[in-house]
Amino acid sequence: MKILITGGAGFIGSHVVRLFVEKYTNYHIFNIDLLTYAGNLENLKDIEGKPNYTFIKGDITNEVFINELFEKHKFEKVIHLAAESHVDRSIKDPLAFVKTNVIGTMVLLNAFKNTWKDSFKDKLFYHISTDEVYGTLGQIGLFTETTAYDPNSPYSASKASSDHFVRAYGETYGMPYVITNCSNNYGQNQFPEKLIPLFINNIIHNKPLPVYGDGNYTRDWLYIKDHAVAIDLVFHKGINHETYNIGGFNEWKNIDLVKLLCQQMDEKLNRPKGTSEKLITYVKDRPGHDLRYAIDASKINKELGWKPSVTFEEGLNKTIDWYLNNETWLNNVTSGDYQMYYQKQYN
Ligand code: NAD
Ligand code: TYD
Repeated sequence: MKILITGGAGFIGSHVVRLFVEKYTNYHIFNIDLLTYAGNLENLKDIEGKPNYTFIKGDITNEVFINELFEKHKFEKVIHLAAESHVDRSIKDPLAFVKTNVIGTMVLLNAFKNTWKDSFKDKLFYHISTDEVYGTLGQIGLFTETTAYDPNSPYSASKASSDHFVRAYGETYGMPYVITNCSNNYGQNQFPEKLIPLFINNIIHNKPLPVYGDGNYTRDWLYIKDHAVAIDLVFHKGINHETYNIGGFNEWKNIDLVKLLCQQMDEKLNRPKGTSEKLITYVKDRPGHDLRYAIDASKINKELGWKPSVTFEEGLNKTIDWYLNNETWLNNVTSGDYQMYYQKQYN
């Protein structure tokens, strides 16, 4: 089976590519990635020589290129992760998100449809989405698969739009698809623009920890490897035209999470208790900041038997260890353009 994974050099994509290449030696995994600031082939160094793996540098918004690629390889299944993924960047440059997340998804959908329109038997377009499409929760309640879409950021609006197109291709052309909407991921290889790796990097360098607003925003955190396992399960056992919510059963207020992170970092770095917490700095809030995300993952739990395998404390511990042991990776991704991004975003 030929599987195209898009965005495989990014955070989640690289874990999914590795899992599939190592576990399914009878599949051939093609990873297409543009290698934007968020894509990094260092993430896949350990598997780059495997015979069932091919990397292709390319842009999913390039229609001619994508059509030719499908014509040449006839990918039977697609796992689509490539995206612009950071909310703060979407506030500064929304059009880039429409281009990659909406147009890019459309280009892939068209190529997939045109390749298999005579028979979609045993084919699959698996679209990876986010819980942010549901908008924000108040203090209570959970997002279920039937919660109405109500996106608030240009990022979540672009992801919502792409989800709708996937569904529309399913209804209109009979294209087989599944969609998963996942909560906030954390773990090794995450680009240090997102909360947890950004704050780990800042603590290492004794830099301020910029907490947006009052810090009382809530997210539901899931360890990356548990997300990759869920994707494997949905890919193989998910029901055609179904959506599954994936979450960590693990809600944290940002400020509580940051304090836990500070404690763990002080221990690892042999700094006196309370050192890292002193770096906490409340800064101007993010515009349109969603108050709370929390996933009801009972459908994937009951129907496919999935549940997270690590506690948050364990996952965070592994994550910190990885960043401390991979200083070169961290230094490489935070040199150059990152410094400019950081200045613009936080000063
Ligand atoms: P990421 O930003 O780390 O990686 C995105 C990857 O896509 C990068 O490797 C980048 O080079 C590639 N890419 C960007 N534009 C491209 C283009 N035009 N053509 C080809 N490749 C391109 O993102 P991530 O955190 O790994 O997220 C992956 C997917 O999962 C996204 O669709 C995101 O919306 C979704 N998701 C992420 C989270 C999370 O917490 N990170 C949660 C739920 C869903
Ligand atoms: P983030 O990792 O950007 O994920 P998302 O916005 O997709 O949930 O942010 C997680 C939470 O942390 C969110 O409520 C915003 C907050 N946050 C800060 O307080 N400071 C920061 O510097 C960043 C990047 C995020």
